[in-house]
Amino acid sequence: MEILRTVAELRGWSREKRIGGKTIGLVPTMGALHAGHASLIRAARELCGSVVVSIFVNPTQFGPNEDFERYPRSFEADCALAEQAGANAVFAPAVEELYPAGSATFVEVAALSDRLDGQSRPGHFRGVATVVAKLLIVAEADRAFFGQKDAAQVAVLRRMVADLRLPTEIVVCPIVREPDGLALSSRNVYLNAAQRRQALVLSRVVWLVEAMTAGGERRAGVLIDAAQRAFASEPSVRVDYIELVDWKTLERVEAAAPGSLFAVAAWVGATRLIDNTVIA
Ligand code: PAJ
Repeated sequence: MEILRTVAELRGWSREKRIGGKTIGLVPTMGALHAGHASLIRAARELCGSVVVSIFVNPTQFGPNEDFERYPRSFEADCALAEQAGANAVFAPAVEELYPAGSATFVEVAALSDRLDGQSRPGHFRGVATVVAKLLIVAEADRAFFGQKDAAQVAVLRRMVADLRLPTEIVVCPIVREPDGLALSSRNVYLNAAQRRQALVLSRVVWLVEAMTAGGERRAGVLIDAAQRAFASEPSVRVDYIELVDWKTLERVEAAAPGSLFAVAAWVGATRLIDNTVIA
C-alpha cells in the first residue's frame, strides 16, 4: 500500500491508475479508523479497481471550542487497518497541502448546512463540503464512500456534488454498530465506562422509532415525543436534537415516509454523539 503525502502525488497516483484502466474509489476519513471505516473501504474495494483512503483531520470543520487538538490520531494503526481492508493507497497530507497559504475559497451548501448538526455546529458543514470538494477534485474519484452514520453530512455532500456537477458518484454504506448497539465512532474513545453505558440510549431511541414506524406509526410528533421520553430514562444524557426530516433537503416533515430520516444527537458528558435511521 502506498502512502501519498502531497496533492501532486495523489493526482499522479490517480492518473496512473486510470491509464491502467482502473476506476478510482475514494474513502475520506479523519483517521482513528475503526470497523465502520473498514466497511467503507471494503465496499470501495468491491466497486472500484483501486482505492485510496484519505486521512486528514480537517481543521475547518471544527468549531473554536471543539476537539480538533485532542481528536484521536493513530496513523500507524490506521494504515494497517486500511491495508487490511483492501486500500491501495493512503493519502495523508499536511494542512498546507489542502489549505495553501492565503486560502480563501470555501464551499457553502446553503440552507442544508444550517440544519441538524449544522445548527448545533455553525460552520461545520462548510468545512466538510470544502475539504470533500478538494479531495474529490484532486483524487478524480469515480466513486466516493460515506457512512449513513453521518446522515446529514451525506445530504450536504449529495447536494454539493449535484450542484457542482462533479463526476463522482456518492455511495452510502450502512451504520456499523458495537454488539450492544452503540454506533462506532472515533469519538467513543472519549467515553468512560459509565458514559459508555449511558450512550446506549441513542441506539435504544433509534430502535424504538424503527419499531414504531414498522408498526405503522407515522406522525412526527408522536415519534419525537416517544424519543424524548426514552432519552429521559438516561437523565445524564443531554439531548441536542431529535429530528424527523426529508433526507434530501433536511427539512422537517410532519409524517414519516419511506426515505425520511430520523436523527438524534446528544451529549454524553463532554462528548457529542449522533445516531439515526432511515424510515423503511
Ligand atoms: P470520519 O468521522 O472519520 O468518518 C469517515 C467516514 O466514515 C464518514 O463517511 C462516516 O460517516 C463513516 N463512518 C463513521 N462511523 C461509521 C459507522 N459506525 N458506520 C459506518 N460508517 C461510519 O466524516 C468524516 O470523517 C469527515 O467529516 C470527512 C467526510 C472525512 C471530511 O473531513
